[in-house]
Amino acid sequence: MPSLLVLLLLAINSSFAEEPPLVELSLGRVQGGTMQSFQGKTIYAFRGIPYAQPPVGQLRFAAPQPAIGWGQEEILKATSDSLVCPQPGISLLMSEDCLKVNVFTGNLDTKGEQLLPVIVYIHGGANVLGSGHSLYEAGPQYLLDHEVVFVAFNYRLGALGFLRPLGSSVTGNFGFLDQVMALRWVRDHISRFGGDPENVTLFGMSAGSMAVSLHLASPLSWGLFHRAILMSGSATNHFAIDNVYWTQKLAREVGCPMYDAPDVVQCLRNVAWTRIVEVCKGWESFQFVNMKWNYEIDGHFLPRHPTELMAEGNFSQVPLLVSFTANELDYTANVHLENEPLLHDLGSNFEEYAPELFLYNYDTSISRRLKEFYLGSNVSEISADNIERFGSIFSDGIIGHGVHRLVHLVRHFTPVYYMRMDYVGKRSLSAPTDDQEMPLGVGHADDLQYVMPSLWYGTIMAENHTDLFMMERLTKWFTHFAKTGTPLSTEEEHDFWPPCNATYVAMLYNDVATKMGPPGYSERYAIWDELFPTPALGRGVARRQQPNIVALVAIALATGVAFRRLSGSLALGGN
Ligand SMILES: *[C@@H]1O[C@H](CO)[C@@H](O)[C@H](O)[C@H]1NC(C)=O
Ligand SMILES: *[C@@H]1O[C@H](CO)[C@@H](O)[C@H](O)[C@H]1NC(C)=O
Ligand SMILES: *[C@@H]1O[C@H](CO)[C@@H](O)[C@H](O)[C@H]1NC(C)=O
Ligand SMILES: *[C@@H]1O[C@H](CO)[C@@H](O)[C@H](O)[C@H]1NC(C)=O
Ligand SMILES: *[C@@H]1O[C@H](CO)[C@@H](O)[C@H](O)[C@H]1NC(C)=O
Repeated sequence: MPSLLVLLLLAINSSFAEEPPLVELSLGRVQGGTMQSFQGKTIYAFRGIPYAQPPVGQLRFAAPQPAIGWGQEEILKATSDSLVCPQPGISLLMSEDCLKVNVFTGNLDTKGEQLLPVIVYIHGGANVLGSGHSLYEAGPQYLLDHEVVFVAFNYRLGALGFLRPLGSSVTGNFGFLDQVMALRWVRDHISRFGGDPENVTLFGMSAGSMAVSLHLASPLSWGLFHRAILMSGSATNHFAIDNVYWTQKLAREVGCPMYDAPDVVQCLRNVAWTRIVEVCKGWESFQFVNMKWNYEIDGHFLPRHPTELMAEGNFSQVPLLVSFTANELDYTANVHLENEPLLHDLGSNFEEYAPELFLYNYDTSISRRLKEFYLGSNVSEISADNIERFGSIFSDGIIGHGVHRLVHLVRHFTPVYYMRMDYVGKRSLSAPTDDQEMPLGVGHADDLQYVMPSLWYGTIMAENHTDLFMMERLTKWFTHFAKTGTPLSTEEEHDFWPPCNATYVAMLYNDVATKMGPPGYSERYAIWDELFPTPALGRGVARRQQPNIVALVAIALATGVAFRRLSGSLALGGN
């Protein structure tokens, strides 16, 4: 009887459709939902699972505590993204209770099957912005067309993540400790989602990439991951960022005591997070974001400066894939093209502005040398003619040089696939456009759009999008790297992209066609090596400066443009 068969099939079908995926963890059962990959494969999505206790009350400004199980009777509904951690800009969708992880897998039936490699993503945003949210920022649709499990998560940001009062009792780094906690959660639970806890690739972008370099150096993260992808950021830079200064400034502005750590923290725990975010946001003029919160060398998460540990080989020697973009922050100042008084002042008082913009301790001879190298010693005006040369100081100082230094230190100990993204796609967050609206360069974060869809770039690519080949290429390389530690599969391909090692240094230039060559911009990075031969010690950049200047330009790591687009598209309900 055909009609019965049809009914039966329908019943089976709908029971598949209605049966939500369920996973049993030692913490309790979790119910997820389904999504579709770019190519239409079914993805099981578990979103908003707590990996730590809510960092509220006495746990605010404290190391994260592991999540507590919810018992065998309860079923945790992990069917939508959690609220994101408090940050400036996104006004409606935040909560301090944000330490949640998202897991995406195509492989729930793990019995007898091989577990899949896992890619864990640490988002960027200058340590004050961003999230692992699957719609805003970290969509699984492209990566999940390959045989991997994808994990993204939130960590504490800004003052809530990095507060550091004087004294030894509260030592900052909470956001990084959250990341370690998320990695431990992956180790303990990912096999239930079909992921292999012995096959974990840590992948970070921008400040997230700087964080990955810290996890390479941290004894706490040792053994929790087995390969790493660093996209546009490394903490092996010269940054001198003074968390204590910003902590005192925050305390003063909300009427809390400033010096004794227990007093500062006790008072700040009673201030609403909305107020903390609001006050810190006020330090950013023109809605741009500079990096104000950074790691502390606390003897726990970080025993010493990451640059020293890398130089000694005292880090997790896992295979690395390290990339940056051809133009990074070159366009940082372009938004001020119409602001002639500001450009004039930046040019004629370069030496006053430079330490805060490029994150080093006040030093006239360093500033003079940078100006001479990038703009010319006789130049005192910034205009359309040289604004991108001015911007390239951000590119090199904030991103490129740290990445360059990382590669040159660690290649003596571990293979490093080094790449520069030169392909100018149709969509860019910061590059100026020609009269056909086509971007003229490859800005910061422009490469991320080929690895994960996000609201920053609008929608998921159309199937006939001209940039599709780059999405296919990068997701293939990254997932192959996650499986094997090399981005390319066949022997010939392998010969084509050899990793840097102790005796060999080369870069893959990733355009429509790829080519190997000597690393780019080495003459530009040489000046930073000359000016900053040893690691900075972190203290003091801001102490002597006026807070209103500090905020001036730097889009730095988060790209204000991206951020404004994100807020803009949220306000418009997506675009
Ligand atoms: C690595 O650095 C830590 C912290 O300074 C030190 O205790 C340890 O002995 C070092 N290990 C090696 C092998 O150098
Ligand atoms: C800069 O100005 C000085 C003094 O006016 C002049 O001697 C020098 O040649 C100029 N340098 C360049 C590169 O134009
Ligand atoms: C992709 O397809 C759409 C709809 O069929 C069409 O409007 C668009 O022009 C195509 N784009 C490209 C780049 O071929
Ligand atoms: C990682 O996973 C890949 C693919 O499943 C497998 O071939 C490889 O042996 C695994 N590597 C390790 C170190 O387990
Ligand atoms: C370094 O890489 C080069 C180029 O692939 C290779 O010929 C050489 O054998 C490698 N050296 C070591 C020590 O692995």
